[in-house]
Amino acid sequence: MNRTGPQPSRVPVRLQANDFLLAAEPCFQQSLDEAAAIANLSPSSHNCQPWGHVWLKSDRAKALAYELLHDPDDTTVGEDSAGGADRTVGTHRTVGTHRTGGTDSIYLALAQDTDRSLGALPAHSAEMHLSCGSYWHLLLRALAAQGWVPAAVRHVGLETLHRAAHRAATDADWPHNWRLLSLAVLTRTGIPRSGDLADLADRADLTELTELTDRADLAELAELRDTAAARRTNRAPYRDLPVAPQALHELAHLPPSSWDPNARTQVTVRHLRSPMELRRFATLIAHHAGRDFSDDAAWRETHSYFRWTSQDAAARPDGFTAGQIFGPVSAPRRLLARVALNPAVLPHLCRLGFDRYLGSQLARTVRTTPVITAASLPMDAPTTSDLLSTGMWLADYWLTATRAGLALHPLSILTQHEDLRIELQQRFGLPGRTFFVARLGYPTTTAAATLRRRASSLTL
Ligand SMILES: Cc1cc2nc3c(=O)[nH]c(=O)nc-3n(C[C@H](O)[C@H](O)[C@H](O)COP(=O)(O)O)c2cc1C
Repeated sequence: MNRTGPQPSRVPVRLQANDFLLAAEPCFQQSLDEAAAIANLSPSSHNCQPWGHVWLKSDRAKALAYELLHDPDDTTVGEDSAGGADRTVGTHRTVGTHRTGGTDSIYLALAQDTDRSLGALPAHSAEMHLSCGSYWHLLLRALAAQGWVPAAVRHVGLETLHRAAHRAATDADWPHNWRLLSLAVLTRTGIPRSGDLADLADRADLTELTELTDRADLAELAELRDTAAARRTNRAPYRDLPVAPQALHELAHLPPSSWDPNARTQVTVRHLRSPMELRRFATLIAHHAGRDFSDDAAWRETHSYFRWTSQDAAARPDGFTAGQIFGPVSAPRRLLARVALNPAVLPHLCRLGFDRYLGSQLARTVRTTPVITAASLPMDAPTTSDLLSTGMWLADYWLTATRAGLALHPLSILTQHEDLRIELQQRFGLPGRTFFVARLGYPTTTAAATLRRRASSLTL
């Protein structure tokens, strides 16, 4: 077992006799580290970062991956073939094709770290899958930008999961608290050949070719890295400016990711933005946002993610600092907040109406927000696989918003409690099952970067 950390990457190339450009095999670790550093910037509830990934490198690990990818009981077709078409049986699907066992195939697994997962509310399970799906999306995109393209992706179904868990339990190297969620087979593609590249390849001008392909690759990777770093939850008030209709249109109609094995899982997005809708939404928040503080178990868990001092933040680089939650406040106010929000004190204050006061403060910010995003799934009981795909969609939505200069602030209280979710959906006629609600607008301030742990990775 090998724990690895992010390192800068270069992608050397060599020229084949047949003019195809292939990367040298040892570079995958560098590409993976680079991709993990980007994926690690993904959003997660309470910034708990419940993800990890595994490079299944040994023959034994590859054999297990092969078995899982071809599990006939999981109603997925994933046979070797050269055609590249997606094929579907039943409710699950493997995207693409793969030459399993070939020396150019890389097997990668996504895992959920259950020790780092939230669990105080039943809805947290879905939030963990959304968060892990976001991480997977960014990891795969960053690898593709470096030429390691998914030939097949498969989210692991429940049946397979039980068997995998059983197998993993007998494998001393698989962490007992890591739950396998998804598998990908990557192949090294020829680096995209523009006219220039083809010309240089014909002339076998390796030096110039290397520089050019490096630049082409790095531009896409750099854009992804910059956008992932710029994407931050922004809880401050937004500018009093309508959001450009074309930006909203693009966000509401994101094309399905070509690597999403559930590309059929359609997310419906509603953007609430008329003055009446926004007023009614703010009223809903004013009435219910206090529940974040009055639900004892949920609050104790939330509170455990507060990092009040810089020493605590350095020792446990997840969760949130007081500055991220309250913005720039004086030291005495911060101390007051620290005392008031202590789980031993807060229930007494809630009896005096403090939770309603906090809810009304959030409602004030909501009232001046130009757009509320509400995203829904068509099915009432989404599977783990549906939620992972939806997490991939969420990453795409948030990155697209960031590119348009927009910020998001999720308001999950309305999706975390069934009665509140139903009320929200009935009031606004939202279809299916709403899984994500957030403020959307042009930010007035730049939000501080959140604490980040090193990417959790294993090589087996
Ligand atoms: C599924 C999900 C639900 C979230 N719900 C909330 C929320 O209710 N309130 C909030 O302030 N932030 C929420 N967030 C944002 C996270 O707190 C945030 O992503 C995390 O702290 C990391 O910060 P960053 O997004 O700035 O990188 C949510 C994020 C995700 C992925």
